[in-house]
Amino acid sequence: MKYVSYQAKTQLFQLHTKHTQRAFYCDPAKRLIQLYYGARGMSEEALLLCESRQAYSSFSPVPELEGGLENSPDNLAQLFPGFDCGDYRLSGAIIRDASGAAATDFRYRSHNIYPGCVVPEGLPGANRGKNTETLEITLSDQTRPVECVLYFTVFPESDTITEFTVIRNCGTEAVQIERITSAVLDLPGDEWDQLSLSGTYAEEFQLRRQALHHGLQIQRSLRGSTGHQANPATALLTRDATETQGAVYGAALLYSGNFSVEIECSQYHATRLALGIADTDFRWLLNPGESLSAPETAFTFSGNGIGGMSRNFHNFFRHSVMPEAWEKRPRPLLCNSWEAMRFDFDRDRLLKLADAAAAQGVELLVLDDGWFGERNEADSSLGDWFVNTKKVGSLATLSDELAQRGLGFGLWFEPEMISRKSRLFEEHPEWVLGVPGHDLCIGRNQLVLDMTRSEVVDYLFGCMSRLIQEARLTYIKWDMNRNLTEAYSRALPPIRQSEVRHRYLLGVYALHTRLLKSFPELLIEGCSGGGGRFDGGMLHYCAQLWCSDNTDAEARLAIQFGESTFYPPCAAGSHVASNYPGKTHSFAMRRAVAAFGTFGYEMKLDELTPEEQKAAMAYNLDYRHTHGKLVQTGDFYRLTAGDGSGNPVAWLQVSPDRKLARLTAVMRKNFAGSIKLRLQGLSETLTYRVGDKNISGAKLLRNPFAITFDGAVGGEAKIVDFTAEG
Ligand code: GLA
Repeated sequence: MKYVSYQAKTQLFQLHTKHTQRAFYCDPAKRLIQLYYGARGMSEEALLLCESRQAYSSFSPVPELEGGLENSPDNLAQLFPGFDCGDYRLSGAIIRDASGAAATDFRYRSHNIYPGCVVPEGLPGANRGKNTETLEITLSDQTRPVECVLYFTVFPESDTITEFTVIRNCGTEAVQIERITSAVLDLPGDEWDQLSLSGTYAEEFQLRRQALHHGLQIQRSLRGSTGHQANPATALLTRDATETQGAVYGAALLYSGNFSVEIECSQYHATRLALGIADTDFRWLLNPGESLSAPETAFTFSGNGIGGMSRNFHNFFRHSVMPEAWEKRPRPLLCNSWEAMRFDFDRDRLLKLADAAAAQGVELLVLDDGWFGERNEADSSLGDWFVNTKKVGSLATLSDELAQRGLGFGLWFEPEMISRKSRLFEEHPEWVLGVPGHDLCIGRNQLVLDMTRSEVVDYLFGCMSRLIQEARLTYIKWDMNRNLTEAYSRALPPIRQSEVRHRYLLGVYALHTRLLKSFPELLIEGCSGGGGRFDGGMLHYCAQLWCSDNTDAEARLAIQFGESTFYPPCAAGSHVASNYPGKTHSFAMRRAVAAFGTFGYEMKLDELTPEEQKAAMAYNLDYRHTHGKLVQTGDFYRLTAGDGSGNPVAWLQVSPDRKLARLTAVMRKNFAGSIKLRLQGLSETLTYRVGDKNISGAKLLRNPFAITFDGAVGGEAKIVDFTAEG
């Protein structure tokens, strides 16, 4: 194999991508020990010297048969550390057997290397890529008939390596899994900074950078969803790393439920990163012959700073994780009804919006919340997925009318939810998640459906597929507007209640999978009150995710830059909206900010001024022919602070052949004068047309580039194109 190798003599495993290398080996005690992860170029000899075992105190015990203090698991960089067997740090898994013992101690048994990739069963994963190869290592517990299989797949082109774990019960008695991680990465030293994304509703993706400290630091969610508050991706970087320089390790979990990203800096100054399902109230009963897969984690390394890591992940998600049907196909330029009309619409008003949208070159009309059951505000009808004919007539007719105007049709759903005021609740109160007799928490007046039940998934699939066919939908928006509470399923026995949150996700993923299998061309835009479930797991089914309910151009700058740290901009739904009260951002500025991602409108297009209409038409044409492609297939460079706090906030979108680059610089305040930016990503050898000048790429890259702002009230955006011939 070209990218994965095993050296029998030294028991050395190596994983290579185009620019990175990871190595571990199997020691005499059959433990897998991590040696190196970083830039390519380490020889075998150098790799084997990466481990130097040191003896510390007797408070780091050693299994009796394994010798001196230097062999204490408490100081070994184990690939899959056990529990209660001498390593007190984060463990890979905790398994309690029928005797009640939880000592978990996995050692190497065999391995297999083959071309292609493997995805965890029932879960999202990276399922394609050029020259991928997989290393599968089987470990067995020292004393119990339990196996653990570690899967590593290399994605050479995006410098990414995925990893996940499967635990299998090979015995005759049931065991309980009390903890399962996807991956554990040990790094030498503890002088790292960490990047993470946190936030709240309407303020997602706020980028934080902090120095690691001794002990444990955790990003996690216990919401049954990933949440607005913490994102399941992180980066560890050298203290001096910047946007363009320094070593950066990125890790992203492809999962949409309770997760934990844990980092522990040990007493011996080593760092351990573990990603997986959050332990709190997680337990899984594994009967003989059964297995459980952890979600997949993707790792990348860049020696070229945070921007390099981001671009690796952008490529990885676009080309290996997100729906293949939408990898190259241009995303439709859409107009969504929500901010223009909320619940207050009828057929005539929709068609008026459709007329304006069609006249301006929009391609798809999305009818948001309020078209079904008897829903006229956010208090009823979730679950009743049949059209409210009083409001919009027949969906098939509406679809025809839109088609006559050259528009596709999309609909909003919130499949996982149920309103007390609904027919579905009257018919199936037992389909609600909830602890019997316990006062249930309400979020946005709604309860959560028990997605662990296959009959619920069947019901939703039936309703949704019928509507997709009837109304010839090319797009659906899949929303989720509250988090789980009282996560108890009446369909599961008491001993399985701690499985509910993970099983819920398996139900959600199964519904996505079934829909995409039946309608492979369907574009699903995920949403959870904005970016409340924006993660690598959802990206496997949704080519775009609504980034935030906050559509204020200024607030969006930080949100979108934060998003771009780990996820591709083309995954982020970003629409032009009306100004928030008190804000005076020009139409051009709002549009420039929205053109960061997958573009659309969320406003009364029929009320644009004639100049705005003209500008919208011109830009929409440009988006469909040029800019949309750049967003979807190009490389993204942040030119100012990664948290989007700069003034201006500037970014560059560069075509894969580097012949076209578009710079957008957004100034928040009224400022007249020049600012200078350092360009990136252009070709040294091409000559670019910039305005009315020809300038060589080398010159552009070596000299600061000046942009002049006019001092418009409420801020302004400047756009500069760099185009090369040939
Ligand atoms: C959520 C979404 C919005 C909109 C509303 C509809 O808040 O994030 O975009 O769809 O629900 O109720």
